[in-house]
Amino acid sequence: MNPIEPKVIRSVRELQAWSDQARCDGRRVALVPTMGALHEGHLSLVRLAREHGDRVVVSIFVNPTQFGVGEDLAKYPHDLTGDLAKLRALGVDVVLAPAADEMYPPGVAPAWVEVEHLTRGLCGRSRPGHFRGVTSVVARLFNAARPHVAIFGQKDYQQLRVISALSRALLFGVEIVAGPTVREPDGLAMSSRNAFLGADARQQALSLNAALREVRRLHREGEREAAYLIEVARGRIEKEELAEIQYIELCDADTLEPLERIEGPAVMALAVFFEGTRLIDNTLLEAE
Ligand code: PAF
Repeated sequence: MNPIEPKVIRSVRELQAWSDQARCDGRRVALVPTMGALHEGHLSLVRLAREHGDRVVVSIFVNPTQFGVGEDLAKYPHDLTGDLAKLRALGVDVVLAPAADEMYPPGVAPAWVEVEHLTRGLCGRSRPGHFRGVTSVVARLFNAARPHVAIFGQKDYQQLRVISALSRALLFGVEIVAGPTVREPDGLAMSSRNAFLGADARQQALSLNAALREVRRLHREGEREAAYLIEVARGRIEKEELAEIQYIELCDADTLEPLERIEGPAVMALAVFFEGTRLIDNTLLEAE
């Protein structure tokens, strides 16, 4: 594909007009919401967007409402120039890079969007208000880009489930497509936060994928007791002196309710700090 310069749009109204025109022309609009600092994981979602739509919008907006007090909003990386360069080769039509006022217009009463049940456990428990911020901004992005389809990474498994519910519950009619987790050659799941890891933490963080692989192996061999599988994962990660486990849970892959015994599709999800950097990862456990 020949490199093309994506059109950078800052205003929601302009994006709505662009998208309305694309829809009138019979185009299928695909949206990839991001917070920028793009890495290969994001770029794989953009490639998937090209397969699912014939006009691609990437949004780059570090959404303040999904960060809690004391979280890493202030140090979250921003690199619009670098991001645009990475998108050039991928056939992206539009990059939405709005100021906060565009997404949260001043002078009107704040309005929030909340998905219940699915947001109670896992990251929802340890980051109160996080998913309210995510769903509130994604609802705005859907209204701004008016996509037919939107692509989200499976690495944020709970977010993916929550947004699928959001689209259906509020009748957005946006098809939600999941992009597989992209890993570094040594197995670390790609994340903008990996840049914060020092050399030792980076090495020790490999324990997350190692633990999930071990759990997958045991599951393949027939192990179904959640407590045992969680203990195996915990034991592997706790070998690393810098690891501080926030949670390791085994849940129903659909409802995200914690399981005692695996009877159907399940997900093991975990969040672990390494020297203050919070990493998440997960694996699906499905009958083969
Ligand atoms: O996954 C992310 O990067 C963010 O949570 C999202 C979906 C772009 C909303 O700000």
